[in-house]
Amino acid sequence: MQMFQPVKKKKAARRRILKDPHVGLNYPQENVNECVESIFRAKNVLQSSDGFIALKNNLHNVSTLLQTIDGEECEITSLVCYGLGSPSSNRSARYQTALLLTLRDHYNVDTDIYDPLFTSVDIAALEELKFHILENNEEGKRNVQRGTVFFMPHCGKELYNNLLWANWSPVSLPLCIIIGNSFSTIVQNIPSRILKEHYEFIYLAKGLFKEYPLETLVEYNDIFNDMSIHVISRDRLDQEESGFWCEKCEPKYENCDVEIVRAKANVVTTKVL
Ligand SMILES: C[S@@+](CC[C@H](N)C(=O)[O-])C[C@H]1O[C@@H](n2cnc3c(N)ncnc32)[C@H](O)[C@@H]1O
Repeated sequence: MQMFQPVKKKKAARRRILKDPHVGLNYPQENVNECVESIFRAKNVLQSSDGFIALKNNLHNVSTLLQTIDGEECEITSLVCYGLGSPSSNRSARYQTALLLTLRDHYNVDTDIYDPLFTSVDIAALEELKFHILENNEEGKRNVQRGTVFFMPHCGKELYNNLLWANWSPVSLPLCIIIGNSFSTIVQNIPSRILKEHYEFIYLAKGLFKEYPLETLVEYNDIFNDMSIHVISRDRLDQEESGFWCEKCEPKYENCDVEIVRAKANVVTTKVL
């Protein structure tokens, strides 16, 4: 009978490893290096493309629009990325990581990153690139007090809507630069009735943001398509009536197909400060 005891223990340990996708050493190191190298190759391609010059110009235009109430230029102090996908297994995610590196170089700031899909290879590669992987699913509800760039490539509508809700004030929202699916295209493609019911903040924000489309940075048209840099200019804020910014309920997404992974029920996901 006792002879079977060690076998049981091994099985239990193996089950524990398989259950935890983040177990650090459970991946071949060469895959991590391969992934990092392919991201650097993608960065070279991106930075030698025609669209790269337009991107640099647009980042410059965005900086001039970013002003504080007293007219000073607002400094970008952090970069947050949601919904990157898996760079070790997906070409789009690799090129998007290359753009994230470019944005980090441009702003010279620390970068938080989260996607529930990350594998252990993704996490090791992204850590090698000195990104900070968030442990908690914020559902995009991060409130900011300083200039922050959110890079959210092809994310579910709930993430954009949650981010807008978490910063719904004339002080916080202008501090957010959002690089993600074009809000004006979403508003064009989704009936107003559905937007008003489930994605109220995307609906309200239409016309508030100036959009700079991401030009063709790479030859594949499924990587940065339909994406824009969104920024609010101060003069647009002044056009809104006072009731526009009043406190509004947190979005719930009841009776609709939710496109994002929700936080676990026991984790509080109201505004992340
Ligand atoms: C349509 S995919 C886009 C993937 C990639 N960026 C691309 O363009 O192919 C949406 C991504 O959002 C991620 N996602 C879902 N819920 C999320 C959440 N709560 N926070 C961050 N990312 C989330 C998914 O895991 C998925 O990788």
